[in-house]
Amino acid sequence: MAKIKVVGQGECEFDGQFSMLEALDESGFDMPYSCRGGNCGACEVKLVSGQVEEIQMPAYEADDGYILTCSCIPMSDVEIEIP
Ligand code: FES
Repeated sequence: MAKIKVVGQGECEFDGQFSMLEALDESGFDMPYSCRGGNCGACEVKLVSGQVEEIQMPAYEADDGYILTCSCIPMSDVEIEIP
């Protein structure tokens, strides 16, 4: 299982949830989000290390080095930073 580490907050396991957002949410992290569908950009976080795969084609385009937690799953242990 991949680990998701949130800088300054701790970490959780990704265990086949729909998205990184869902895994973090279930584990009690206070994640920013709104639409959960790749449209609003509210869930955008910095990808510090690791690799992710998009599970849906987001309408919102994340900045370079940033990802939408509602639209990705981890492909390795990842480290993210909430801006
Ligand atoms: S929650 Fe809206 S883009 Fe992720």
